[in-house]
Amino acid sequence: MQQIPLVDLKRQYSSIEKEIDDSVKKVLESGQFILGNEVSSLEREVAEYIGVKHAIGVASGTDALHLSLLACGIGEGDEVITTPFTFIATAEAISYCGAKPVFVDIDINSYNIDPSKIEGKVTKKTKAIIPVHMYGYTAEMDKILEIAKRHNLKVIEDCAQAFGTEYKSKKIGGIGDIGAFSFFPSKNLGAFGDGGIVVTNNEGIADKIKILRVHGSKQKYIHQIVGYNSRLDEIQAAILRVKLKKIDEWNEMRRKNASIYNNLLNKLPVQLPKEAGKSHIYHVYTIRIKNRDEFIKFLSENGISSAIHYPVPIPAQEAYKHLGYLESDLPNSYKAAREVVSLPMFPELKREEIEKVCDVVKRFTP
Ligand SMILES: Cc1ncc(COP(=O)(O)O)c(C=O)c1O
Repeated sequence: MQQIPLVDLKRQYSSIEKEIDDSVKKVLESGQFILGNEVSSLEREVAEYIGVKHAIGVASGTDALHLSLLACGIGEGDEVITTPFTFIATAEAISYCGAKPVFVDIDINSYNIDPSKIEGKVTKKTKAIIPVHMYGYTAEMDKILEIAKRHNLKVIEDCAQAFGTEYKSKKIGGIGDIGAFSFFPSKNLGAFGDGGIVVTNNEGIADKIKILRVHGSKQKYIHQIVGYNSRLDEIQAAILRVKLKKIDEWNEMRRKNASIYNNLLNKLPVQLPKEAGKSHIYHVYTIRIKNRDEFIKFLSENGISSAIHYPVPIPAQEAYKHLGYLESDLPNSYKAAREVVSLPMFPELKREEIEKVCDVVKRFTP
């Protein structure tokens, strides 16, 4: 039986094969592989696309978050408020700085941090908030910015799953102080390996990240601070420049696919994602269902791939259990972790494939 994949990067490659191959060949022939014209052109183009002054390419989305926190001066003894319902990198970046992640529960319908619960967690040690635009859907930025302003906190948007998502007609990433993006291959704007980018309007922060990404150095072999090796490759930047031209079209195809799913599934006893216009790019299409394990088994037996994003809230992970959170502290995050399941979603997914997925879902939940 032919399996319907969760994501199919080969289909995307075949749709732009010639442009990608040409762009890679150009880099191979140039002999310049690290921080050259392709990276600086991508930085210019991403800054323009997001509508910010600066973009700085780095080695991964995790590094984009880590270097952003360092550039805000966050370190030992500080606290950073974030969501427990995210990929672990969001929390790890905080830990790398010696700071403590403080988890605030999510809104069960948006899967994003619940702004009404943030202020209760602000202490004298709090220095920043990291909202995650989970699954590609924008966090409630106005409310988050208002709280940040009141307590003099930095806002670092984790945009790893949401390239091109809009919040009130502005691209996310440019709304807080800093936006951190991932170019992990399966992201909606993905490289052919690891990569990331930081965007900001703050010149001081941009300068600091440029130094941090290359061993604390502005001038070759002269090192002002202890930095990192976190550079974006020329080959990845060249590939991303080809893909950046397509991102709006691909995001629109994702929205169309989500809308087909929503129409076909709307009568079933499952929780569907929001229809939210340009505020959602459906990096994944995630539903909630009570008997998830049986459901996943049924999908798999019927040729449908699926995934759980993510099965364990961060504070329940072995790595963070020492922080001592209980399920009763973060009930929505635990509920989501127990019930979410992502169905196949990518721009090139065909209507017939979505119909087949929905037929199987309907057979499980008549
Ligand atoms: C929400 C979130 N934050 C951060 C990251 C880290 O990005 P990367 O894998 O590029 O380091 C990811 C993706 O993997 C993510 O989904």
